[in-house]
Amino acid sequence: MTDGGYDAGYRACPSFWGSQPSSLVLSLESQIPSFEGLRILDVGCGEGKNALYLARKGALVNAYDVSDIAIDHALAAREALQVKDVNFYVGDAMAENFPSESFDVVIAYGLLHCLADEQSIREVSKHLIRMTRKGGYLVVCAFNSRLQDLAAAHPGFYPTTLRHQVYVDIFKNLQILEAHDRDLHETHPHNGIAHTHSMTRILGMRQTIEPK
Ligand SMILES: C[S@@+](CC[C@H](N)C(=O)[O-])C[C@H]1O[C@@H](n2cnc3c(N)ncnc32)[C@H](O)[C@@H]1O
Repeated sequence: MTDGGYDAGYRACPSFWGSQPSSLVLSLESQIPSFEGLRILDVGCGEGKNALYLARKGALVNAYDVSDIAIDHALAAREALQVKDVNFYVGDAMAENFPSESFDVVIAYGLLHCLADEQSIREVSKHLIRMTRKGGYLVVCAFNSRLQDLAAAHPGFYPTTLRHQVYVDIFKNLQILEAHDRDLHETHPHNGIAHTHSMTRILGMRQTIEPK
């Protein structure tokens, strides 16, 4: 078992992140008229709220997380909802790989700040882009360095935070549809402590002709 930074929460409740899809996944729906048959990869899928939502819309989803507790929860939710076309498994973004252009959509929601350092974030981001087909979409959300209120709500969690602009630079070869740095105010169910994270959210399309 490997702790991706959220296992205390996963251990304490069966649905830490709830069942509603993330905001950029909803934004994606304004770009893609139908998800039927689309190949989607969700890296750091947690308990699978985005993967399940998209599979229920007809996508063929591969979803993995380094936390076996999160994957157990995702499998239980898949069973409860009777969703077929989503494959959940334990895997590490630093080691997992798929051939280039394997997916119509690649999602990394809350993953990148969990990685050990900037070099790992850059390396994984390069693979996320490479695995997205040209003309396909990438959905990325991560803590950035502007404002993190971690001590009380996330004791013992030391995420890697980069400046928002560094993320924009990492994904600069995409056609950017959304890129913003906003505060997220949240309270997790296992400790009830209200806190704030500054979040980079990027929705981009891999360009057919990529800039050199
Ligand atoms: C902020 S949570 C988001 C979960 C989910 N994407 C969502 O939006 O509900 C980040 C997830 O990334 C996972 N994670 C951290 N490091 C990882 C790694 N190296 N490979 C795969 N997953 C990882 C954590 O276990 C955690 O479930």
